[in-house]
Amino acid sequence: MSGTESQMPVTIAGTGSYLPEKILTNADLESLVDTTDEWITSRTGIKARHMAAPGEHTSHMATKAAERALQQVGLAAEDVELIIVATITPDTLTPATACYVQQNLGAHRAVAFDISAACSGFLYAMKISKRLISDGAFKNALIIGAEKLSSFINWEDRTTCVLFGDGAGAAVLRKAEEGEGHILATDIGTDGAQTHLLNIPGGGSACPITIQNADQRLATLAMLGKEVFKHAVTRMRDSANTVIARAGLTAADIKLVIPHQANLRIIDAIADRLAVPNDRVFVNLHKYGNTSAAAIAIALDEAHREKRFEHGDHIILVAFGAGLTWAAAAVRW
Ligand code: COA
Repeated sequence: MSGTESQMPVTIAGTGSYLPEKILTNADLESLVDTTDEWITSRTGIKARHMAAPGEHTSHMATKAAERALQQVGLAAEDVELIIVATITPDTLTPATACYVQQNLGAHRAVAFDISAACSGFLYAMKISKRLISDGAFKNALIIGAEKLSSFINWEDRTTCVLFGDGAGAAVLRKAEEGEGHILATDIGTDGAQTHLLNIPGGGSACPITIQNADQRLATLAMLGKEVFKHAVTRMRDSANTVIARAGLTAADIKLVIPHQANLRIIDAIADRLAVPNDRVFVNLHKYGNTSAAAIAIALDEAHREKRFEHGDHIILVAFGAGLTWAAAAVRW
């Protein structure tokens, strides 16, 4: 799905991120499950991931990332008009994690809600808020991807527990002023025929956790990894190509591709298919693993702070996740 992009231009005014202090290395995992650093590194590229502390919730990490983004922009919390948190690991099923973040920040004038689009959620939030700002409904938006996946992992399942981590990233969007960069094109898509490939089967209304099923760990991530891998490469390639074409760009115009951080082999395959050299593809999954909705947001903030792109450069953000969902954005910084 892709709307007309000819409305009032919207800029990404600033970014922020937060990773919890505790680091779980591949060596640590070797003592938890039957795995090796060699297997994890060669199959995924992941070397470590961060773990939230007990009592540290998704909303706490989201708040810290948001504070850093607001600070970078110089926007006071009470002036934030819209907060969207993308997460599949909310603090509570209701109210939305965004409500806790609103309260934590003191952003009392903001409308706040969550969206659930898995690893594509941050770019879904970008598209939604871009449209709402363009339409004049809100002057600015704070969009956040935040996950505490460690609470939804089966720590006895080596096929999933090595892949994921916790963290949060945020961005502030507002109307672009004359001469400022802006979001050129966005694309989002969904294939509900593939819900079985990647999901958390229990804990919702379809399968509440009860005393009878409590030992089956149904409220943890289940994945058919090989199938997900194939869809991820095709969908991200197509979505990235869609926004590149819609923005009137070619591969040569792209300063940096910031892909979803799930697996280095997926990232390499996408770089190859987009004909973008590896030094123009941002990778940080060796440090953080797959942080789902937070991954693109954290990567955008890191790349921004490392000055991997500057004013006038074109960047491509592209994500893929459970649903299946996918999304991309072309941005002139
Ligand atoms: N350590 C050691 N061995 C492991 C292991 C681990 N952590 N996890 C799985 N294995 C074993 C399997 O049991 C299997 O053994 P077998 O051949 O004896 O049955 C073998 O390694 C190969 O497993 P397979 O699943 O075929 O590996 P793979 O090359 O497909 O890699 C993934 C597995 C999960 C890394 C890969 O499929 C992947 O990254 N998929 C996409 C996941 C993803 O991106 N998800 C999020 C999307 S947002």
